[in-house]
Amino acid sequence: MAADVNNRIPEDESRVSPQNGHQTPGSGRWMYRGVWTLVMVAAVPLLAFGIKYYQDSRLFRRHEESVRALGAEGLFLFSSLDTDHDLYLSPEEFKPIAEKLTGISPPVDLEEEVIHDPNGETLTLAATMQPLLLNSMTKSKDGFLGVSHSSLSGLRSWKSPVVPSSSFSASQFRVFLPPKNKAEVGDAWWLIPSELNIFTGYLPNNRYHPPTPKGKEVFIHSLLGMFHPRPFVKSRFAPQGTVACIRASNDFYYDIVFRIHAEFQLNDVPDFPFWFTPGQFTGNVVLSKDASHVRHFHLHVPNDRSLNVDMEWLYGASESSNMEVDIGYLPQLELQSTGPSTPSIITDEEGNIIDSRDGATEPIQFIFEDIHWTSEISQQEAARRMEVTLYPFKKVPYLKFSEAFERAEAEKKLVHSILLWGALDDQSCSGRTLRETVLESSPVLALLNQSFISSWSLVKELENMQADEQNSVLSEKARLHLENYNFPVEMMVALPNGTIVHHINANYFLDMTAMKPEEEGAAFSFSSGFEDPSTSTYINFLKEGLEKAKEYLAQ
Ligand SMILES: *[C@@H]1O[C@H](CO)[C@@H](O)[C@H](O)[C@H]1NC(C)=O
Ligand SMILES: *[C@@H]1O[C@H](CO)[C@@H](O)[C@H](O)[C@H]1NC(C)=O
Repeated sequence: MAADVNNRIPEDESRVSPQNGHQTPGSGRWMYRGVWTLVMVAAVPLLAFGIKYYQDSRLFRRHEESVRALGAEGLFLFSSLDTDHDLYLSPEEFKPIAEKLTGISPPVDLEEEVIHDPNGETLTLAATMQPLLLNSMTKSKDGFLGVSHSSLSGLRSWKSPVVPSSSFSASQFRVFLPPKNKAEVGDAWWLIPSELNIFTGYLPNNRYHPPTPKGKEVFIHSLLGMFHPRPFVKSRFAPQGTVACIRASNDFYYDIVFRIHAEFQLNDVPDFPFWFTPGQFTGNVVLSKDASHVRHFHLHVPNDRSLNVDMEWLYGASESSNMEVDIGYLPQLELQSTGPSTPSIITDEEGNIIDSRDGATEPIQFIFEDIHWTSEISQQEAARRMEVTLYPFKKVPYLKFSEAFERAEAEKKLVHSILLWGALDDQSCSGRTLRETVLESSPVLALLNQSFISSWSLVKELENMQADEQNSVLSEKARLHLENYNFPVEMMVALPNGTIVHHINANYFLDMTAMKPEEEGAAFSFSSGFEDPSTSTYINFLKEGLEKAKEYLAQ
């Protein structure tokens, strides 16, 4: 849909640059366009304009007064608390400050809080971490020149988990159980649904304290809270939320795998916000179907890619322009159960109560029967199902660079390859605009499925591949890719032997497809994706690639 695409791309968002920062979503211009589009699409009567104008001008006056009273930096801190942007603080919005001053945090949302069962089982989770390797960051190349010391203070001082070990009741893991309509192995669902859509846009950067978690967020928040005191269970950008999938089951147990897109705010007042966004958190829990027993729990940030964390920080009080971006490598961030859950109170054959935690008696040895699954899928298949739930574009597989060329050779297809500075299926900025628009549209999916083998790679990975003298064939293919690459994202069509027959830069692509506001009305359409200029431009790009490949092969 035309409305989708343009609404989601603030004009400069794709122009991510490690030097200059970038125009961030949520900024004034984006909000303006969001409102504009909403009005157009919904055909809200003119009255709405009048009310909006009145509210805007009142808000504008209030804003002017606030700047006079607080100055830009003071207002920035005030706004970080003012989540509804009405320039007044409600008691709820003041809460983080109250908690800071009193040191008392009010009780969490009781709605979905588990009723504590003193006879229930408990288990202990241990958190381990190896801090981010600062020298993996692009900015380290020039010795963090021009990066103020306070920007990185939260990152530099985060060396270990804030809670190394914590005990939980087995019943709290109930949040991982599938909903009633999902009971089969392979079923995937949203455990914490994403709330981002074209009308909500992105969440603001200007925040220090996570909103009070609700429902199932409460438990995920307390798990992530073992790593750092300020986890945001819902990330600012898509993908947002948590998905889960039943990997295996038998009569009594499930093995549930999950994937969480959350982030941490590493800085606190008075420093400017520093967002630390791991590519994803993933893991699994083996638990009984009534959540009375947890056999195993594991949660970690995957470390098998050369870069796995996106970082964005503000260096000034204006969230629209003063933003830096970098990526880096986090070797370890992990939670693991120290053993299966065990009851604290057990009764012997005569009905006497033995407290297993009571130091006076002999420590009790628990013996756990082996779990035999009656139905299961592989770890990879479960991961794929979660991925498709998160990203519809994954309906066509994206293979690793070398596999893609092997498959293309075998199936006599072309390689549709995307080379980017950050990862496409992680939360980094560079892939964001692309993924959320064209790659999910069904005509593009169909053409990719029919004539191409798709792949995406990080610039850094191909640089390593190019330098590898052991594998001259791959090294040459990587060289040809890098030769045709321009920051931040380049889409390419390649022959199976590595020759690039066609390529297009993401910025150029977005310029071509960006609609000028005066043309907006004309292009609106709610019918199928073909009228959408970016879908048709991408289809043309792929078809031109097919044509050019024919010319090559005819030679
Ligand atoms: C891809 O093509 C195969 C075989 O032609 C078909 O079964 C499958 O549904 C297609 N997938 C998509 C996403 O179009
Ligand atoms: C790949 O094959 C095409 C067509 O046969 C040829 O023109 C091109 O030079 C080859 N490229 C490489 C890198 O071998």
